[in-house]
Order: sequence, then C-alpha cells, then structure tokens
Amino acid sequence: MAESIHVPLSALLPGAGARETLPASSLGELQGGLTFYIETFGCQMNEHDSEKVAGVLVRRGYRQVASPDEARLVFYNTCSIREKAAQKVFSRLGEFNPKNNFGRDSGKRIGVLGCVAQQEGEQIFERAPWVSLVCGSASYRKLPLLLARLEAGERRVTGLETDTDETFETELTRRDHPFRAYLTIIEGCDKACAYCVVPQTRGPERSRASDSVLREVQELAEVGYTEIQLLGQTVNSYRDPSNRHLTFSELLLAVAETPGIRRVRFMTSHPRDLGSDIVEAIDASPALCDHVHLPVQAGSTRVLRAMQRTYTREEYLEKISLIRRARRPISITTDFIVGFPGETERDFEETLSLLDLAQFDGAFSFQYSPRPHTPAAAMAEAVPESEKLQRLQVLQERQRAIQWQRNQRLRGQVFEVLVEGASRRETQWTGRTSSNRVLNFTSSRTDLLGEYLRVRVTGAGPNSLTGEENSE
Ligand code: SAH
Ligand code: SF4
Ligand code: F3S
Repeated sequence: MAESIHVPLSALLPGAGARETLPASSLGELQGGLTFYIETFGCQMNEHDSEKVAGVLVRRGYRQVASPDEARLVFYNTCSIREKAAQKVFSRLGEFNPKNNFGRDSGKRIGVLGCVAQQEGEQIFERAPWVSLVCGSASYRKLPLLLARLEAGERRVTGLETDTDETFETELTRRDHPFRAYLTIIEGCDKACAYCVVPQTRGPERSRASDSVLREVQELAEVGYTEIQLLGQTVNSYRDPSNRHLTFSELLLAVAETPGIRRVRFMTSHPRDLGSDIVEAIDASPALCDHVHLPVQAGSTRVLRAMQRTYTREEYLEKISLIRRARRPISITTDFIVGFPGETERDFEETLSLLDLAQFDGAFSFQYSPRPHTPAAAMAEAVPESEKLQRLQVLQERQRAIQWQRNQRLRGQVFEVLVEGASRRETQWTGRTSSNRVLNFTSSRTDLLGEYLRVRVTGAGPNSLTGEENSE
C-alpha cells in the first residue's frame, strides 16, 4: 500500500471540530489531566481508525500528546499481517514493564487496539499484565463505554466481539492530513485467502450506507478537503445497505461529483470484483484518479488456487487488459507474496513472467509469513527462508527495472500534482500525480502545500519523478 507523506500541519487541520471538554473523570482528577498518545502500525484502514479513536478520546476530554512519556493513556493500534509487524507491539509494550521503570508511574493506562488485539485477545494480559485495555476494530463502537469503565477504576477491559453488523462511524474523527481525507466505506473481509489474518482480525464484511458516505464527503469538502481516499480491505466488494443500492462504481461517481472534491482514490481492489463499470467510471470522471491497486499475490494458477484467491492467472491478466483498454492510461500497482507453501521454482518463474506481461507501475512484495489460525499455517512444503529471500530479491530487481523503464516514458510530459510536502531547500516541493506517482519538483513560489499545480517531468527514477513547475 502506498505510503503517505507526513505533513505536520495540525494547526491547519480542518475537521478538528469537536474539542469540547467533558467534566474531568476520576482518572483525570487522580492524574492531573487527561492526556493520550496513540501510535499506529499497519494499513491505511488502521491509520484512519486511529483518527476516529482520537476523535472519541478528545470528546471525552483527553488531549493528544506527542510521546508516550507525557501520556496518561497510551494506545497502540496494531497490525498482525506478518509476524514481524505483530512482534513490534510486544517490544513497545515491553518498555512499560514494571521491572524497568513503569512501576513508578502506575497511573498510566496502556491499551492495545487493532489486529493484534483481536487476534491475541486476553492473552495480551498474560504476556503484558500491565495492559488495561484490549479492543479489536469490530468493537470500536464500544470504546466510549470501555473508556468510562477504565476511568471509573476498572483494571482490565476488553472489546473482542466480531459478530457484528456495525461499522465504526463517528462524527468526531480527527484527521491527521490537511487535504487528503480517508473514509472507510467497507469494513472486515469475507474472502478467505489461506495466508491472511484479516477475516479473523477485522470480522465479517459490512458496508456503510451510501447516503452516510456522501454526507461525510460533502462535509469534508465544505471544510476544505480536496482529495478523498475510500478505504476497505476489498473496497470494490462494497454493497450499499441502504435503499438506494448504489453499486461501487455509482458511489465512486457520486463522490467524484461532490463540489470541491478534486481527487478520489480507492484502496484495495480485489481482482474478482473488478468489473468494466469501474474502468468506465474512471474514464467518465476526471476526478477519479487514474490508479488501481490490484493485488495479484502470485503468477501461477496452482499457487493462486492454494492461496484461495478465487481467480486464475489468465483471469487476472484479463482484468489487466480491461484496465489497459481505458481511454486514459490508468496506472496499476499490486502486491506479491513469495514463498507460499508449495511454491516451486517453476511457479515462481510464472510470477516473473506475469510481471513482464502486466507491466505494473509499482509493487509491494513480501516473503510469506505463516500466521496463526490460517489454513496456510498448517500446509506442508514450506519454502526455506533463504529461498524466499532470494525470490524476493529477484522479483524486486525485475520490477525495479520495469518501473524505471515505464517512468522514462513520462519525461517531457506535464502532470497535475497535489503538493504534499516541502523539502528543506525552499524551492523544492513534493507532489503526487493522479496516477499516484511521487513527483519532486522545483518552483520559485512559496506556500504551495495543498495546491494543485502543473509540473513538467524532467527526470525519472524507478520510484519517483523529478520536474519543474510548468509556467506555460
Ligand atoms: N485486502 C488486500 C490485502 C491486505 S494485506 C487484498 O486482498 O489484496 C496487504 C498485503 O499483505 C497483501 O496483499 C499480501 O500481499 C500481504 N500479506 C497478507 N498476508 C500475508 C502473509 N501471511 N505473509 C506475507 N504477506 C502477506
Ligand atoms: Fe486478506 Fe484476502 Fe481479505 Fe485481502 S481479500 S484482506 S488478502 S483475506
Ligand atoms: Fe495489518 Fe490489520 Fe491492516 S493486519 S494490514 S492493520 S487490516
């Protein structure tokens, strides 16, 4: 998934509305002020959940601080997609072990949110008994209640149910980015990829009503957001639960037509649910960004079948052709897993040949990591770690060459960018094209953050472009 550039412009934050302070709770009185710190791991959905959680906390009278040391309430919003990601949180939690120095500050409360919370549940209390709250994303609607119980002095609270049809919506979201707004339209996942923890950690698929999505988009546009990023683990499996029954592509078009909205992105699309209507919508509406993230995972039908991805190599390549037939060029990025159990050298060769055929504009690739309670964890024929690493390096090298070549063709072209950051040198700026490419450029003007500019590409590397503001 694409990384976002962090622009620390909290003072400019639109949508930071609900700052009202509720009467200090007992926890606050005891501890001299309610403060919280939240660190987020994982995908954009987690990042956005943290923005919503922060909104809920501010509503309860908490103030956000920049380090865990200053905070009374320390939250980690965790990811468990691969083993390394899941381990990170335990090393963070270790820092609060009373054997070290936490014992001197026993007023602190530590909470674990997100996918590790859901997956490990109460076992987290066993591994780190100083944790007070464990809550998975399917239970965030209960957070105000859980917080009230903590504030009333309860030592341990949990929210671990996944049998829900609720989505986590709140008018209190405190968005971190000043011009791009994330918006979850579908939560959970009903697919059953053999390697993946998400169906366990985020619960069943449930979509948000289209009128509620469109109302929020309108409010975001009114306070100055120009880019909307619609989120879901399988965003294009969206099913409108309201009477309007908008399809995903109809929803895309409606969001794109909202006055003030200049860019609409969506992430992540599942190949199975990518129909021609989505490509037609992108063709019809310039505000819909010319970028589709379409994870393939592997190039061999045999491995795709073992992964339970529900499409063959040929079906995936048909989706690529469908996108390539659009009237405007649409950039395609993907994800790969190498070394899935049973993946032979020959299967891997098929992944490499798919790379050549598909000509992706970007790819995230990972070594297969066995995850607890997934069907793949019990599969025989594990690929040795050294082999996984070698395959990963071969794949990344080949993809790098493809990206370099594809980006060279963009030299001399002019693209509209949304300016997202400045470098230390005052004339250097960073923006993103509609196709989601990073374009570093020069301009003699100041105050460009959040502006849309036309930039001519003068240089190209595998991962970014360079250019200068087009004054013509
Ligand atoms: N919902 C998205 C992907 C979510 S996870 C989809 O269906 O494509 C993001 C990426 O992490 C996946 O696309 C996959 O490439 C990778 N991933 C997921 N589980 C993994 C595992 N057990 N080991 C290695 N990579 C994994
Ligand atoms: Fe995981 Fe598959 Fe669902 Fe994506 S579609 S979140 S990879 S189970
Ligand atoms: Fe990680 Fe959970 Fe997202 S496992 S990738 S934080 S859905």
